Amino acid sequence: MKSAQSLSLQSFFTAKFAAMYRYLTAACSSEKIIFFKNSNLEDLLNWHAHCIVQGTSLDCEFLSGIRVLTIYLKETSMMSTITSRTTDDGVRIYSRLLLRCYDILIYHLLAPYVWRCKSRYFADLYHLMMSRNHADIGVGTGYFLDRCHYQSGEVRIALFDLQQNCLNFTAARIARFEPETYLCNALEPIQTSAARFDSIALGGILHCIPGDMLQKGAVFDAIRPLMHADTQVFGYTILNQDITKTMLSRCVYAVLHRLKVINGDQDSAGQLKSALEKRFQNVEVSTIGCIALFSASTPFK
Ligand SMILES: C[S@@+](CC[C@H](N)C(=O)[O-])C[C@H]1O[C@@H](n2cnc3c(N)ncnc32)[C@H](O)[C@@H]1O
Repeated sequence: MKSAQSLSLQSFFTAKFAAMYRYLTAACSSEKIIFFKNSNLEDLLNWHAHCIVQGTSLDCEFLSGIRVLTIYLKETSMMSTITSRTTDDGVRIYSRLLLRCYDILIYHLLAPYVWRCKSRYFADLYHLMMSRNHADIGVGTGYFLDRCHYQSGEVRIALFDLQQNCLNFTAARIARFEPETYLCNALEPIQTSAARFDSIALGGILHCIPGDMLQKGAVFDAIRPLMHADTQVFGYTILNQDITKTMLSRCVYAVLHRLKVINGDQDSAGQLKSALEKRFQNVEVSTIGCIALFSASTPFK
């Protein structure tokens, strides 16, 4: 039986997305609105894939993405409990279904309009920091790896993730680089016989991990077996403290946090900096909107 807590979460979530859905449908023809309202998950998935292949207008692609996500979240256990948080909470959402909508939702919608950090800032960080011998921890869809400035044959890329779907999706997307893949929990020391890396990205993984920055800092310890003295570590994470928020960012954060997609409502740039400074001699953290972008090098012995 569902708890009163989960029922109130469900109504909160449904109300927020219903408003967004109404707003978006205003931009579409009545024929499409009827289609979206009456179709089931399978129809929507096929339509979404069709939109991407045909290059149909962004409105339609975006709308079908939102609708698919709404149905998906309602149909999964994500709506059922909002009590304790586990490592699995940070990876459960990355189903094959969501990965098909991920880039649009994150990089064309949430990053620029909600977190107020355009995707070019993340891309610039990759451009600056990614080496020819690179490890990516928490790969998602491999959006920035796919856009990196290297040609095939020029770069070694290794993918590390706790979610097999993310590894498969990214490995297929960047197959031209023949990536290595490793299924692992980035909170535990990553033991591998693989040669060490010159750069390591931790893009968007910290806000998935439950606990405070002290606990999330375990990731910086876990990657030590992959590092040598000159390895450059970089990444970004969503913050919730000591930043300027908008009504929209508060609202979306609250929904994603209650759904356990984002974990760590106490995260601040200051805490991130001290977690890094405990482990590295050179640390830089800058904030754009609700996002902290960071880099670190020269680990303490
Ligand atoms: C928000 S996505 C970030 C994707 C990508 N790096 C980007 O910048 O768009 C977070 C990724 O971290 C992975 N992840 C979350 N917790 C993890 C953990 N404890 N160990 C390994 N991977 C984890 C998820 O499966 C997902 O692929």
